[in-house]
Amino acid sequence: MNRFWYIIKRLVNYKYWLLASVVSNIFMSVFTIASIPIFIPFFDLLFNPERNNIEKSILGPNPGLKEYLNYQLSRLIEGRTPEEALIYVILAFFLTFLLKNVFRYLGAFFITPARNGFVRDLRRDLYHHIISLPVLFFKDRKKGDLLSRMSMDMQEIENSIMNGFDALIKSPLIIIGAIFIMMVISFKLTIFALVLLPVTIFVIGGISRKMKEQSSEAQGYLGKLLSVLDETIGSIKIIKSFNADKLFISRFDRINDDYKKVLTKLLWRKYLGSPLAEVLGVVVISVLMYYSAILVFQGEIKAATFFAFIYAFFSIIEPAKAFSTAYYSFQKGAAALDRVEEIMDIKNDIFNSNNPIGLKSFNSFIEFRNIDFKYPDSDEFVLKNINLKIKKGEKIAIVGLSGAGKSTLVDLLSRFYEATNGEIKIDDYNIKDIDLKHLRSLIAIVSQEPLLFNDSVVNNIVLGNPVTDEDRLQFALETSLVNEFVESLDAAKNIIIGDQGTKLSGGQKQRIAIARAIYKNAEILVLDEATSSLDSESEEKVQKALNNIMKDKTSIIIAHRLSTIKSVDRIVVLENGKIIEEGSPQELIKSEGQYHRFLQLQQL
Ligand SMILES: Nc1ncnc2c1ncn2[C@@H]1O[C@H](COP(=O)(O)OP(=O)(O)OP(=O)(O)O)[C@@H](O)[C@H]1O
Ligand SMILES: [Mg+2]
Repeated sequence: MNRFWYIIKRLVNYKYWLLASVVSNIFMSVFTIASIPIFIPFFDLLFNPERNNIEKSILGPNPGLKEYLNYQLSRLIEGRTPEEALIYVILAFFLTFLLKNVFRYLGAFFITPARNGFVRDLRRDLYHHIISLPVLFFKDRKKGDLLSRMSMDMQEIENSIMNGFDALIKSPLIIIGAIFIMMVISFKLTIFALVLLPVTIFVIGGISRKMKEQSSEAQGYLGKLLSVLDETIGSIKIIKSFNADKLFISRFDRINDDYKKVLTKLLWRKYLGSPLAEVLGVVVISVLMYYSAILVFQGEIKAATFFAFIYAFFSIIEPAKAFSTAYYSFQKGAAALDRVEEIMDIKNDIFNSNNPIGLKSFNSFIEFRNIDFKYPDSDEFVLKNINLKIKKGEKIAIVGLSGAGKSTLVDLLSRFYEATNGEIKIDDYNIKDIDLKHLRSLIAIVSQEPLLFNDSVVNNIVLGNPVTDEDRLQFALETSLVNEFVESLDAAKNIIIGDQGTKLSGGQKQRIAIARAIYKNAEILVLDEATSSLDSESEEKVQKALNNIMKDKTSIIIAHRLSTIKSVDRIVVLENGKIIEEGSPQELIKSEGQYHRFLQLQQL
């Protein structure tokens, strides 16, 4: 039930649409209900065709509601021939149904912006939340799982909850109205019918209990399916060249089969609801017909009234069914909503402090002080007691074997993760106290995997910022040698590079990533294997240009190819998360340590 309130709260923005819809639905219910008593004169006419003129019912001194209604209805057709009266009754009949359907459409018309808006808002909030979550969240999550929550669960919420919600508002009005009419027609019969009705509802309620659970399970399988599909598309070359199709096919088939099983069980249960409701409804009606026919025989009620009563009861069945279906749908949708909420509830643990410091530039140094770091899901420390002070304007290189912790170290500076122990400072400020936007503006990164978007070359470089400085853009294109494969600025604006840059070679992608960092023109430049995919000739050219740029920047360069870091001020050698050597290139060669060995190996 709290789900219900949660939805209401989110629907507040659409209150006028909702109100219009509720009002339309009230009118629709009124006309649905109004069509019931109209049957009484109709049947009266049918069953007493020999009457020449229809008399007005006599209104006693103290009429009950029933007498009053009868009186009003008979006024409509008094003094007419049965044929004329028939036309009137049929016309009234047609009119009520026409109006009922006009309002039915209006009810649906008005709720549509609200339900689509609701899902739009939820999708927006989810996306805004996802994009704010820390980097580590995405390392732990399967992509497919997120995709399925964003697409399928949203769809499920759209369908189930909103449909259910609609029915939950609409059906009770009709049910209450019809019961009211029934009461007016025959109190006794109504009580009798109402005793039977809960039996029906109770039986149906039993089916739905397991549905929520199964629905959640089904969506989980779908997420896994999408994950496998995503991995397959991402690594199709590897799969083919290593003949790994069997592995992927069996993984996919297994999940697909499980998905089918859960879904089948779920649908079996769901489809049981409606027929069961109808059968039970008919049982109730049969009993009712028997009982009311007896009342007719005994002369307690008129035949016409009896038909109107049965008709009234029939008009309860559809909304009652809709109501119970809405209840199932709600369960299913609630499971989807839970899955969406689960992501929404994940706290972003990397955020601004209360009074973040706005830092547009820095003056003297960056310092890693006693930094330990381990990834949350492992016990092993990836960085151990790192102490490193980088002066403004200094160029330092970090070298070390693969897995030594180099990328992790520079990632900490951008606060992609939080250090387990120790602190990182820029000038005298802990980076935790610096406004995140400012901190990240200070740093331009060329990361190890150049990450590109399916957009034009220029948009990949400026990343959504309007191009304010065409000269700088031109400079970035030239320095990074992007201009070797994209002839002009115009071409750069128009060429779309495909999903994750699939239309480009590895080196071309890397050059765009370099251009992006150059264009950002930040004070701190971080190059993580930035030129590793270039041929040696291009690498030398780009390196020269980069050295030029680095003159007035503070740079951290991670490189395996040591020839690219000849001219740095200082080299830090990292091994198993510890700094084991540190000094200028000349000093390190002299001391004949690890760096010296690396160098010799590469010169062989
Ligand atoms: N998300 C993660 N969860 C757990 N461990 C991780 C995660 N990412 C990296 N690691 C581990 O952290 C260690 C350091 O990784 P890092 O990427 O910093 O190495 P690196 O020095 O940059 O290596 P390379 O030269 O190959 O890029 C590795 O042993 C790696 O297995
Ligand atoms: Mg790395």
